[in-house]
Amino acid sequence: MTITSERKTSQIDLQEVQDHDDPERGFWVIVDSYVLDLTEFLRHHPSGAQKIVKRRNKSIDIGSNFLDHFAHTVRTFREACSKHDATGQVVSFRFKEVDQYSVSILGKVDPSSLLM
Ligand code: HEM
Repeated sequence: MTITSERKTSQIDLQEVQDHDDPERGFWVIVDSYVLDLTEFLRHHPSGAQKIVKRRNKSIDIGSNFLDHFAHTVRTFREACSKHDATGQVVSFRFKEVDQYSVSILGKVDPSSLLM
């Protein structure tokens, strides 16, 4: 896991997330109020990109949606979240099933700005 430091603060506006909805500008999603850059990973999601794209306008709730994922998938995500919380910096990581393509935690949105 590597940490990069292009961003100093971790707070991101919901609008900025919504503006990143294609491969050219980047594809961002919110999981549990963390903003993830899935631009590289999306097409390689094991059950297809469409499942994530369909859920994109809502925050993906790790408690419910991630129950379909393996425990180590959730653990990898949670470890990256902890690292982000500790540093406030961008954290890039890889899931072991899709280890050619990295995922980055860019920051967080204010949970009260989300329509759940
Ligand atoms: C941050 C990364 C990921 C996100 C945001 C994500 C998101 C999602 C979402 C929203 C669904 C649909 C759940 C539903 O239908 O309600 C899903 C399904 C699924 N994901 Fe992921 N996923 C991620 C990573 C992974 C990884 C690393 C694996 C590797 C095993 C994986 C394997 C699957 C599988 C097999 C399904 C289908 C489950 C089913 O339809 O029963 N995902 N994912």
